[in-house]
Amino acid sequence: MNDLVYEETDYGPLACLPGVWQGGSGEDIAPEPDGDENNPYYETLTFEAAGDVTNAEEQVLAVVRYHQIVSRISTGKVFHDQVGFWLWEATTGTIMQTLTIPRGVTLLAGGRAIVNNGRTTLRVKAKEGSADWGIIQSPFMQKKARTLEFRHDLTVEGDTLSYDETTVLEIYGNPRYLHTDRNILQRQ
Ligand code: HEM
Repeated sequence: MNDLVYEETDYGPLACLPGVWQGGSGEDIAPEPDGDENNPYYETLTFEAAGDVTNAEEQVLAVVRYHQIVSRISTGKVFHDQVGFWLWEATTGTIMQTLTIPRGVTLLAGGRAIVNNGRTTLRVKAKEGSADWGIIQSPFMQKKARTLEFRHDLTVEGDTLSYDETTVLEIYGNPRYLHTDRNILQRQ
């Protein structure tokens, strides 16, 4: 493939992301019909600077593309695969994360960056039914494993990245199951 050439871009708070990050102390709590499943995991999270876009000749968004691949420590098998973009609008300070997982679920979360003493936290949220930051899911998932909310804090300090995310699910008769994931990764 040809080398890709992007616009020169100010990535603002997203400038800390690009690279390949790995971490082996992931903690996943996921739903099971009879309670919780605890899944220790390792993962590779890859971020690539992808230039900028202009919407309606007005809104400029800096773009970072990502791919997250998560494997269960007990089996070495991949059990979560996620792709999307992080976006930053300089004029308003808005941060967005788009997220797609191969369960028939996709969402657009919005929020802000908190930058302090060389530490950057990207904090975004989405809620089902929100006109601004919403969640789209297949008819099956709406009925059987509905995502109601998503909250995500991702922090980078130097070559260390940590995240903490909560996905609120309506599943197995539980109206608000807290599906949580966290890990600490190092830039390779
Ligand atoms: C590191 C991140 C994540 C990991 C390791 C993970 C892992 C899991 C696991 C193990 C299950 C239980 C069902 C199964 O064994 O496949 C599950 C269920 C589910 N996850 Fe995640 N998940 C992650 C992030 C997310 C995110 C970000 C979303 C959506 C915003 C999501 C949505 C769901 C849904 C809707 C289910 C219910 C489906 C079911 O249990 O049958 N997950 N996840």
